[in-house]
Amino acid sequence: MKLEQVLRVLNEEPAAGVLQPYWRESMACLPADTPDFLNPAALRETMAYTNIDPEEYDPVIRVAGRIAADNALKLLAWHCRRLLFEVDDYPGADIKRWPEMVQALGKDANYFYFLMALASVDYVRDLHRKRGLPEDITQATCSDIWRFLPRYAGLRVRVPETLSWLRHAVVGNLFKVGRHQYIRSAFSGTIQVFRHGASGDVVALAEGKLQLNSAGYFDGDSGIRDPRAWTTYLYANERTVHGFPVIPEGYVLRNDVRLRLDEWSLLLFRDTPVLDMHIPPAEPMPLEASIDSMRRALNLFYRYFPERTFRAFSCRSWLFNTQLQDILGCSSNIAAWQREQYLFPTPAPIPAGLPFIFSHAPFDLENAPRDTRLRRGVVALLERGEPLRNGGMFGLPEDLPHFGNHFYRSGWERVRKRLGLPSP
Ligand SMILES: CC(C)(COP(=O)(O)OP(=O)(O)OC[C@H]1O[C@@H](n2cnc3c(N)ncnc32)[C@H](O)[C@@H]1OP(=O)(O)O)[C@@H](O)C(=O)NCCC(=O)NCCS
Repeated sequence: MKLEQVLRVLNEEPAAGVLQPYWRESMACLPADTPDFLNPAALRETMAYTNIDPEEYDPVIRVAGRIAADNALKLLAWHCRRLLFEVDDYPGADIKRWPEMVQALGKDANYFYFLMALASVDYVRDLHRKRGLPEDITQATCSDIWRFLPRYAGLRVRVPETLSWLRHAVVGNLFKVGRHQYIRSAFSGTIQVFRHGASGDVVALAEGKLQLNSAGYFDGDSGIRDPRAWTTYLYANERTVHGFPVIPEGYVLRNDVRLRLDEWSLLLFRDTPVLDMHIPPAEPMPLEASIDSMRRALNLFYRYFPERTFRAFSCRSWLFNTQLQDILGCSSNIAAWQREQYLFPTPAPIPAGLPFIFSHAPFDLENAPRDTRLRRGVVALLERGEPLRNGGMFGLPEDLPHFGNHFYRSGWERVRKRLGLPSP
């Protein structure tokens, strides 16, 4: 059957262009029987393995049966699964343009993509088995698919936009270790990080040509411009590097400093390999769980992927917005974790984190829920017309034993004096 015919039967013709690649190859390898990813027994086993609530099983199996029994739906599901997980060069940007499947499946539409999420599990298990990874890592990594359950569509994830996220685990780039997920990637912070040889102290300098506001954050955050904005510079010669320090609390000081390169070594800069951290929703995030997760991630990568070197942990997220210190105060997991990391500014031309703080549904300030401290604080800030910033963090693996003691913040007073910076 041709793709055009399939889409015509399903009333999804506009998707023809984006789904055309590799259609012929998909049809050539279509199994004669029901594909495993639509098989009820296999689905039950996968849902049990990934801790999906048993109450969810029946509708999933019913829709899988509906797809298996309808030739056009079955062919399309088979093809989409292949494009997602077996065709490396099929662009993630094209996945975002797939149909929502409402024409084809009506109220069952979101099950189509949950079945894709379930189908990712076999690939991940197979790959982890081949690498000899511990079973608890495999199971935790796979269990992240719960967010694709139909009842969370539009709230926790957007389908098909978020589907390509599943590819990270399938190709062995993403692992869940304890509380957090890790992907080895290239550092994207606009800073350079140095360590002082004799004392072990750490300082970050802002890259040059950053347009910052008078508070030391990016000018233009949430579209708000500062008439007193200024521009950073960063110069180096064979003996010194000269620029503006970022303090561990996460903003840039407008006092330039010179670091002597016989005293300070460059550790981290743009594109250095890092372990990028991702914070799955809904689980509690006490500081101990975060630190434990980072320790275990180090062990995992050192032991199973020694070839995948990295220089730091890193993350860019609304969770590292320093405004949250004021909003949440001391008794907060988010604020506590911020205090253990070295924070730095990242730009946020639109208010950062609203989908994670409220939901992926369009944000409506007037009617936004105010049921938690965070939500109340964010709503109040937006009502005052202030920007809602983003933030970045890094933590160096060799400093991990000191986490829990505000290592970078408590070392800053020494750094400040050493660099001749004025008292705050
Ligand atoms: C990460 C996460 C688990 C932290 O939650 P936590 O451990 O409760 O954090 P805190 O202790 O700092 O919470 C302090 C307050 O903020 C609230 N809060 C925290 N995260 C919230 C969120 N995402 N939405 C709404 N309120 C939130 C808490 O309920 C608490 O308020 P309360 O005392 O009135 O109940 C939570 O924010 C979450 O699930 N986030 C979604 C995942 C995410 O954003 N990942 C990063 C994507 S870039």
